[in-house]
Amino acid sequence: MKRMLTRRDALKLGLLGGGAVLLPLALQRRSSAQLSTWTTQFQVPLRIPPVLSPVSSDATTDYYEITMKPAQVEILPGLKTTIWGYNGQFPGPTIKARVGRQTLVRQINNLPEPMVVHAHGMGSKPESDGHPDDIIEPGAYRDYIYPNDRPATLWYHDHSMHDVAPHIYKGLSAFYLIGDEVEDSLPLPKGQYDIPLMLQDRLFASNGEFIYNSRGNNGAFGTTMLVNGVTSPRFEVANRKYRFRILNASNVRSYQLALSSGQPLIVIGSDNGGLMPAPVTTSKIRLGVAERYDVIIDFSVYSIGTQVVLQNLVGETPSLQQIMRFDVVRLESDDSTIPATLRPFEPLPESRAVRTRDWNFSRGEHGEWVINGKPWDSNRVDATPILGDVEIWRLANNDKDAEHHIHLHLVQFQILDRNGQPPLPYEVGRKDTVFLGPNEVVRLIVKFEPNRGTYAFHCHMLEHEDHSMMTQFQVL
Ligand code: C2O
Ligand code: CU
Ligand code: CU
Repeated sequence: MKRMLTRRDALKLGLLGGGAVLLPLALQRRSSAQLSTWTTQFQVPLRIPPVLSPVSSDATTDYYEITMKPAQVEILPGLKTTIWGYNGQFPGPTIKARVGRQTLVRQINNLPEPMVVHAHGMGSKPESDGHPDDIIEPGAYRDYIYPNDRPATLWYHDHSMHDVAPHIYKGLSAFYLIGDEVEDSLPLPKGQYDIPLMLQDRLFASNGEFIYNSRGNNGAFGTTMLVNGVTSPRFEVANRKYRFRILNASNVRSYQLALSSGQPLIVIGSDNGGLMPAPVTTSKIRLGVAERYDVIIDFSVYSIGTQVVLQNLVGETPSLQQIMRFDVVRLESDDSTIPATLRPFEPLPESRAVRTRDWNFSRGEHGEWVINGKPWDSNRVDATPILGDVEIWRLANNDKDAEHHIHLHLVQFQILDRNGQPPLPYEVGRKDTVFLGPNEVVRLIVKFEPNRGTYAFHCHMLEHEDHSMMTQFQVL
């Protein structure tokens, strides 16, 4: 049963801004006086998205088939939410691939709008990268071929120009995990101790449906935290080490992750770089949209019965400050260790760069988001590096308030500096997305490989990307 939101409801949902934002949940069905009670936090067990099985395999390739379609799922206890999902699931099914074998994913569009699918972080050929022009019409399908060239935590999501924000908000995002023998040979936590966590914030109507409010082109913020599509879940763990692959798949929200116990996080991997050269211990992690960090948490320091909350230090309400809870419930032996050396690589020296390109991220004259003063134009290419060239990309944000989370398709880059200072300690691995804070200048060093062709380069805050802080480079 639908009912109109009153202004009072809207205020409580944070739609009108101002005041503390309270959590609309099943409680909404009761009187509005009870709205302030948050009863489902840490009640619902974490779910791990299912791993998709290939429909067939041959000597070189695993073949998958996915149907994008609407579905009704239970996110808030007792209520139904309409989602758009890969195979009707939210998050979509995880694809697990191996370096050395390619994947063909047939994406069938059974949704009422054109779709584009992008495997974020992959070194795909242009025709499989999900260029915004390469749409799949409703009722049609497209075959994407993925080389699985990097052992790393990737994800796949919609990439329709001007509609990526509502599409991902409705549920079109999923993990794509690539492993290899080097990683297998390390004694890191594996199998059921290697857990993907997709962080998203959503706003719910009283009937359980998502409310999408882009606030112009500032972006859709939610008041409820979802992890793998579950509201502020609880996850029962043994007193041992776990690996968590943490992805920010929110529309525009960024996070500062920390544990309520004060225990540090051990970062072992980042973005499409996969494992870093060495583990980095940090008390908190800043996570922009589309960034991923692989993190080890060692629960062996806790006694059975301990509860540890994964916090967001920059959340504006208690519910946004407490993302999920780990309940240490059982004793288990632990044969995993964290090697001092993970996956070393030669950092690209600045002297290898053949040129520097300057990129400015700002508001345009009409309030849109622009790169070097220009909005997206699929007929314009703003950089033409040559295959194999190393370049320095200098990203500048002159805004004192807005942040941007900048992503390059195709490549892996390294962060040289932030406002002339070294990057954060856990930003030393290879990455595909970088946090660009207010008034910040970040320099990246990028080698343009492994393919020629035209690729997107954009802010990954979804409403910024849609309106339309995106351009493209062409590798010659
Ligand atoms: Cu994750 Cu162009 O995107
Ligand atoms: Cu991408
Ligand atoms: Cu932005």
